[in-house]
Amino acid sequence: MADRYLRFTGTAPGRFLTRRLGLPQPAPLKRWSAQRPTLEGDRLLLTAGKSDLDLAAADPGLGLTASSDKPAAVVLDATGVRDVETLADVHTALHPVVRSVAASGRIVVLGAPLDAADHHQAAAQQALEGFTRSLGKEIGRGRTVNLVRLTDARAAESTLRFLLSPKSAYISGQVIEVGPGEAGPAAGTAPDRPLAHRTALVTGAARGIGEAIAETLARDGARVVVLDVPQAEQDARRVAERLGGSALVLDITAPDAVERIAAALPDGLDVLVHNAGITRDRRLVNMPAERWSSVLDVNLASVLRTTDTLLTSGAIRRGGRIVATASIAGLAGNAGQTNYAASKAGIVGLVRSLAPRALAEHGVTVNAVAPGFIETKMTAAVPLFIREAGRRMNSLAQGGLPVDVAETTAWLADPGSGSVNGQVVRVCGQSLLGA
Ligand SMILES: NC(=O)c1ccc[n+]([C@@H]2O[C@H](COP(=O)([O-])OP(=O)(O)OC[C@H]3O[C@@H](n4cnc5c(N)ncnc54)[C@H](O)[C@@H]3O)[C@@H](O)[C@H]2O)c1
Repeated sequence: MADRYLRFTGTAPGRFLTRRLGLPQPAPLKRWSAQRPTLEGDRLLLTAGKSDLDLAAADPGLGLTASSDKPAAVVLDATGVRDVETLADVHTALHPVVRSVAASGRIVVLGAPLDAADHHQAAAQQALEGFTRSLGKEIGRGRTVNLVRLTDARAAESTLRFLLSPKSAYISGQVIEVGPGEAGPAAGTAPDRPLAHRTALVTGAARGIGEAIAETLARDGARVVVLDVPQAEQDARRVAERLGGSALVLDITAPDAVERIAAALPDGLDVLVHNAGITRDRRLVNMPAERWSSVLDVNLASVLRTTDTLLTSGAIRRGGRIVATASIAGLAGNAGQTNYAASKAGIVGLVRSLAPRALAEHGVTVNAVAPGFIETKMTAAVPLFIREAGRRMNSLAQGGLPVDVAETTAWLADPGSGSVNGQVVRVCGQSLLGA
């Protein structure tokens, strides 16, 4: 279902009228395309406090510059902010340039982990979070603001590249933590095909977000396996054929599902994307047990089962990536969705608990994406009024597209993202729901 309001506000009379009425002003977002792979313009580097971060280690990949009149992006290195006095440098650095950041531009604030032994440093660093989320809400014109907590610029290179690119168009107001020291992609890997020679399995990939994920991972060089239910067989085969991959037709809740996945991938796999999901909405007072169990089974129990078996059997190779799909409903809660929100919050628990062990024991990262309102068949079925509210109630005043979730998944799946682990990344345009 097309967003007609977004189109209307893109016209001169539409802009005039909606401004006069004080209505939301969604800006058309600049997304990645082969013709426009980067945001055109400078990437300005500013510093607050005295930083020890070796950003040059992540450059020249990032191409940061010390001055610019109209930057497409600003990186503010605030890792050296240790107290309220140096926190003032954040204001000093950004206040003069924030107006000049181009439409659909980026502000990325770099912060340090909170120091448990220094509450002044912790206060000042936590302050960056409130700052980032507030600036994200007020900056407008399709511009985004995110905070990356890091200790090692080299380890954060894939994350900074992603956040500074058009691929992160629908991510704003988020805090991402990047751990220390994992090496980047192996030498000789083509930068625009980071997943070459890798196999990715995407569940629920016959349509919607899953199809976009399969397409984006294939663009990045992966051989994709498109898994979906027998009712969606035709679509699954069509997607697989278009992407030069293969289809695997099965219900992930079937008792033999994991065995069949393992049998279809005798050489193992590198990227496992748990995307299949269903909703069966009803308020708890009216919810039969079957609605509860079917949602929990597809969205959570099958994810736990497949992850356990494929991880412990070694089917997911070292350097592998698991990306699961949560939802902002799982973070904020939603009336009529006790079953769905429980299942998606369960994904968050799974990711946070398993991530450190999976990396230590198997060399595999585990992260989640948490989509907000994304334009798909699932959301097209939502009643008009609620759909409109879902689209506008975020800092970018529009719904996201499946490709926004797909690009986020591709960044997490990147061999260079080995230091991004245990994260739940919201792809929600900074929805007003939840944190
Ligand atoms: N669309 C949104 O706004 C939104 C928001 C938050 C989270 N999500 C989550 O993103 C994921 C994809 O959502 P979508 O909007 O593309 O949904 P969709 O309904 O368009 O697609 C889901 C796909 O999963 C498949 N599937 C369902 N049950 C399955 C099973 N048992 N075995 C194998 N495949 C199965 C379906 O056949 C379908 O192809 C879901 O996990 C959903 O909960 C979506």
